[in-house]
Order: sequence, then structure tokens, then C-alpha cells
Amino acid sequence: MPRISDRAGVLQESAIRKLDITVRQQRDVDFFRINIGQPDVATPAPMLDAIASWRPDVIAYGPASGSLECRAAGARYHSAWCPQLTAEHVAITTGGSEALLFAFTAMCDPGDEILVPEPYYTNYNGFATVAGATVRSIRTRLEDGFALPSNAELDAAFTDKTRALVFSNPCNPTGAVYARAEVERVIRWCIARGIWVVADEVYRRIWFESPPTSALELPWAAEHVVVIDSMSKTWSACGLRLGMLISRNMALMEKVERLGQARLGPQLLAQHAAMAALALPESYYESVRATWRARVAVMSDALAALPDVQSHRPEGAFYTMARLPVDSSEAFARFLVTDFRSSGQSVVVAPGGGFYADPASGQDEIRLAAVLKPAKLRRAVEILGEALAAYPGRTG
Ligand SMILES: Cc1ncc(COP(=O)(O)O)c(C=O)c1O
Repeated sequence: MPRISDRAGVLQESAIRKLDITVRQQRDVDFFRINIGQPDVATPAPMLDAIASWRPDVIAYGPASGSLECRAAGARYHSAWCPQLTAEHVAITTGGSEALLFAFTAMCDPGDEILVPEPYYTNYNGFATVAGATVRSIRTRLEDGFALPSNAELDAAFTDKTRALVFSNPCNPTGAVYARAEVERVIRWCIARGIWVVADEVYRRIWFESPPTSALELPWAAEHVVVIDSMSKTWSACGLRLGMLISRNMALMEKVERLGQARLGPQLLAQHAAMAALALPESYYESVRATWRARVAVMSDALAALPDVQSHRPEGAFYTMARLPVDSSEAFARFLVTDFRSSGQSVVVAPGGGFYADPASGQDEIRLAAVLKPAKLRRAVEILGEALAAYPGRTG
């Protein structure tokens, strides 16, 4: 038998996708799928029009870091946060996912470590593994709004192998939006330690009280900062597979260009659609916020009404981690899929363990995504409450 690599051997199965096979096996059940961040919001018409009107003579390879037009459009869009940005500071990638993979690969050698406040976006594990690096997690807590780790906690996690700190702001899965002082503090800590900051800002436009501080806004941090963005969430175009890596560190950008050359270029059609998206007026982002604000409020209010359930009221993005009176959220999530029905309906949720470095953590937590229309979300959380009442493994 030919040998599978150790790296591939330790790749975790996505916690979010894990239940999907079982879900597909169920018959005659109407599932509310709030386990994955796939919005049902319409993709903006100008993007669809751009796709419909794209008719090149040849679907050619494009430049490794994206077309100059698309990079310039990205720089123009992000210049609202960093006026100094030009096309050379933006690399177009196949989703924010590839931007993260390129960042980790450009920063880490095998055995290096990446600090990540947890719970965190589960795919950081896979990108780190492929890049040969290890995630070293630092716990954040529901009780204090999932605030970023203190300097003392960062110090305790730091080793001579630490190469970067990664965080998403607004945060998937917690819905936390980090205040300016917090973001500045951790970035100053990274600079003092001589490590990179990867600020994953794919939800930057989705906030409810006050906007997150973009790492792009801190000119003194330019050499250390890499920002990730994506068309997936803000423009509801998950399947377009288009993202961006932004940095003013030109040594890093040169390596990102080489990584891009190794896979040739990102899709030209997707870049064409992205340019239409990046030219949308400010009113588009206001409507995006209004949509998510309403949904997240419905989800949070419904959760707050459930006995023995605690959850953080999201300040941004469209997720929340909820603590349930169960000791295995994986078993409870399975119970929802295979056993529990309320008038032929049930809910698919993401068990909390997958958002922690050690899946033994988060066993009393689930992540919910407010990706459905308000009435459906209300019903989904109602079903969750009914299922908790009926669940034989309930602890509270
Ligand atoms: C925090 C975060 N970063 C990155 C991504 C990846 O996005 P993309 O679809 O652009 O690859 C996601 C997707 O859910 C995410 O939640």
C-alpha cells in the first residue's frame, strides 16, 4: 500500500461538514440548516450581470496575483481603511481560504506555530497543517464576551517557534467584534515579539453597534500585518471562490506572488464579477448590515428565551456560540438529525468541539449561523428548545 503523508493523516474532518452525510440519509424531514455560513441572501445583481455579460474569445490564464484591474479595484475599495494602498499590495486568491493558506505558507516553516484565540474558524487547522505549522490556541470565554487574550496569556503561549497570530474580526464563530484598543494592544504585542499578524476580516462589513477596527487602519503596523478578505459573505458569493490577501510588506507579497505562480492564476470570470461587487455604492453595505442585524437579533432573542441556554449576543458576523445543558454537543447535534422531529422539521447545528484545538473542549457548545430568513430562524431556535426538553442526555 503506498504511504499517505503524516500531514494528510492528521487533517481534521471539518466539524461543520461532518453531519452532512447523515443529514443526506434522512428522508421526509424539513431541516433548518444553520450549521454552515452559507447565506440565503441574493448575490448583488451587478455581479450576476457581470457574469452574464462575460464573453472572452479565449478563457485564458490570468496573472498569478490577479489581473491588474482587479487588484486595483481591491486597493481602491480597501483604501477607505488605508489610503496608501495600491494594486501591488493586493493579491487576488481563490477565496479567503487560499489567501490564508498562502499567508501561513509564506510565514511558517515545518514545526512553526501559529497563535489563535479559540474558539476559532475551524479551517485554520487545515491551512496550518498543509503549511506544516501547528495551531497553538489561547482560550477566550463566553463570560467575557470572547475578548482577545491578555498580554499575559499571549506571553504564556509564545515560544521560539511562534510565527504569527491569527484572529477573525468580526469573529467566526463567536460574533465578537474587537474594540480598537484591544486590536491595537495585540498587534503591538506581535510587533514587540517580531511576529506576523493575520487579520481575517472577511466579515468586516457585517457589524451591528460599531465597526471593527481593521488592521489596515494602523499605519505603524504595516510591515507586520496581512489582511484577508473574501467575496463570500459580504457579497453573498461563496461559490465564486474569490478572495484577497492584502499587505504592505512587499517581501511577503513577493512570496505570495510566487505561491500564486505555482497554481497559475485565479479565475478571470470571478475577478470580473468581483470588480462589479467592489464598485457597489455604500448603500449596499448598509443594506447588508440591516439584513444581518435583523436576523441576528431574531436568533439572539429566541436563544435568550430558552431556559438553561447561554449565548453571546453577536456584535458582528452572523454566528453565535451557544452553551447548552448537554455534555456532548456532538451527540445532541446527531440526535437532532437522526431522532428529533417537530411536525416533520428539525435543525442542523455545528457541534462546538470543532472550533477548538482540542475537540474535548466545547462539548457543551454549538455554533449557530443566522443564515436563514427571520421567521425560519425563529422556528429553528424554537425546535432547538423543544429538542433540548426531549433530549435524554440533558444535564441541566
Ligand atoms: C473567518 C473566515 N475566514 C475565511 C473563510 C473562508 O472564506 P472563503 O469562502 O472566501 O474561502 C471563512 C468562511 O466561512 C470564514 O468564516
